[in-house]
Amino acid sequence: MASFDYESYITDIPDYPEPGVVFKDITPLFADAEAMRRTVKDIADHFRDAGVTKVVGPEARGFMIGVPVALELGAGFIPARKPGKLPRETYAVSYELEYGTDTLEIHRDAIQPGDRVLIVDDLIATGGTAAATGKLVQDVSGVLVGYACILELTFLEPRKALAAAGDQELYSLV
Ligand code: PRP
Ligand code: ADE
Repeated sequence: MASFDYESYITDIPDYPEPGVVFKDITPLFADAEAMRRTVKDIADHFRDAGVTKVVGPEARGFMIGVPVALELGAGFIPARKPGKLPRETYAVSYELEYGTDTLEIHRDAIQPGDRVLIVDDLIATGGTAAATGKLVQDVSGVLVGYACILELTFLEPRKALAAAGDQELYSLV
């Protein structure tokens, strides 16, 4: 866990997008230049010596945090997108969310065999999105280095979902 008070920049929205879900809104953290800078640096510092060559970020909030982390690490960025958005041949995977199900796609040629890949997202809840993205990375022969997020909802036990997909590290700031 990092020393900066990230939690004070994250707002709880009860019953959004459906009753019973407490939505964690990370937009105030991105709205604050210093909090955003620290977030990106903390995540990048943790994986600085891991030889990451590609960061994969799931649409859409994974783009917001994945791109600056990739820049900070000197790695490329690969989007994992919702269906029908990528123009070339893709691999697809479907998964369960805290609210509903979804599918993500990645370009088949986005990752070269041996690329060392870090998956970055704003938040890991059930771990479904991260585990599915990890599967896509491995489908395209990437070496999955680990997962990073700003906020981990530990009560949903995402580490169990990730452990089922492999033994890669999950680093979360909150
Ligand atoms: C959110 C969040 C993660 C995912 C986490 O994305 O940004 O990608 O849910 O949930 P999980 O661990 O249970 O899979 P969402 O699918 O809501 O899409 P968005 O980024 O486009 O808002
Ligand atoms: N994605 C999945 N669960 C979420 C939550 N509780 N808040 C924000 N984003 C989410």
